[in-house]
Amino acid sequence: MPILHPMLTTAVKAARRAGNLIHRASDKVDQLTVNKKAHADFVSEVDRAAEQTIIQTLLEAYPDHAILAEESGSQGESEFLWIIDPLDGTTNFLHGIPQYAVSIALQHKGILTQAVIYDPTKNELFTASRGRGAYLNDKRLRVSKRLHMADSVIGTGFPYTNFRNKDAYLAIFEELMEKSAGLRRPGSAALDLAWMAAGRYDGFFETGLKTWDIAAGCLMVTEAGGLISDLAGKDRYLETGNICAGNNEIHPQLLKIIAPHLTEALK
Ligand code: IPD
Ligand code: CA
Ligand code: CA
Repeated sequence: MPILHPMLTTAVKAARRAGNLIHRASDKVDQLTVNKKAHADFVSEVDRAAEQTIIQTLLEAYPDHAILAEESGSQGESEFLWIIDPLDGTTNFLHGIPQYAVSIALQHKGILTQAVIYDPTKNELFTASRGRGAYLNDKRLRVSKRLHMADSVIGTGFPYTNFRNKDAYLAIFEELMEKSAGLRRPGSAALDLAWMAAGRYDGFFETGLKTWDIAAGCLMVTEAGGLISDLAGKDRYLETGNICAGNNEIHPQLLKIIAPHLTEALK
C-alpha cells in the first residue's frame, strides 16, 4: 500500500464505511424504498444513508471543509471541496448487478488533489493523489499501452434519461462499433474511469455526466498516465459532463472519430 496523504486516508475510511453499508444492503434490494428523480433515474435509501456516512466521516476529520454531494447538494464554504457520489451505478445495484462504486474526490482551490473509488462487490479500492500516482489496492496503475483503435476496448455510457444528444451519440457509437475491438457499457462512470486507469479499457467517452460521477475518476486516469478532455478536446469536462479519456495513442484517435459528429451542445 502506498503511504497515503492524511486527507486521502480519511476519504478511504469514508468510502469503506459507505461501501460496507451498500454491500450489507445488496442482498435485500427488493425491500428498499426507491424514489424516481427523473425518467430512469432512481435513488434508494441506501444512496442517502451511504452519503450521510461519508459526509459524517469527512466532516468529523475536517469540519471546515465544503461538500458537494449528489443527494444532499452543497454545504459549507472552503477552499477544500469534497465531491461525493455515494453510490455510482444505482440502477445496477437495484437490479443485483455487481457493478457499482463509491466515489469521493477532493478539490483544493479548484484543483483535484485526492480521489478514491471503492467497488465493494470486488473489494477493489482505487486511490489517487495528485503527483503521486494512482493505485488499485497496493498496485501502482498505468493506463494501457495499446496503439491502435482496432485493438482497443472502449468504455461508454448510453444516454438514458436525457435524449438531447442521442443522435450524435449513436453516430459515434456506430463508427466505434466498426473501428474498435469492442464497446462496453457496464453502468458506473466512476468505475469506468477507474478501469481506464487500470488499463482494462483503452478509451472511454460519455455525455451528460455530473461532476460527482467523474471527479475522482478523472484524477485516477491522469495519475495513471492517461489523457482526459471534453469531446472537443478541451478541458471543460467537469462542467459539461461530456468526457473523452484514453491512453496517449487512443485519446487522439477517439477524438478524431467523435469530431465529425459533434453538435454545438456537445462542444
Ligand atoms: C450513473 C452512472 C452511469 C452513467 C450515468 C450516471 P448514478 O450514476 O455513472 O454509468 O451512465 O450517467 O448518472 O445515477 O448511478 O449515480
Ligand atoms: Ca453517478
Ligand atoms: Ca449516485
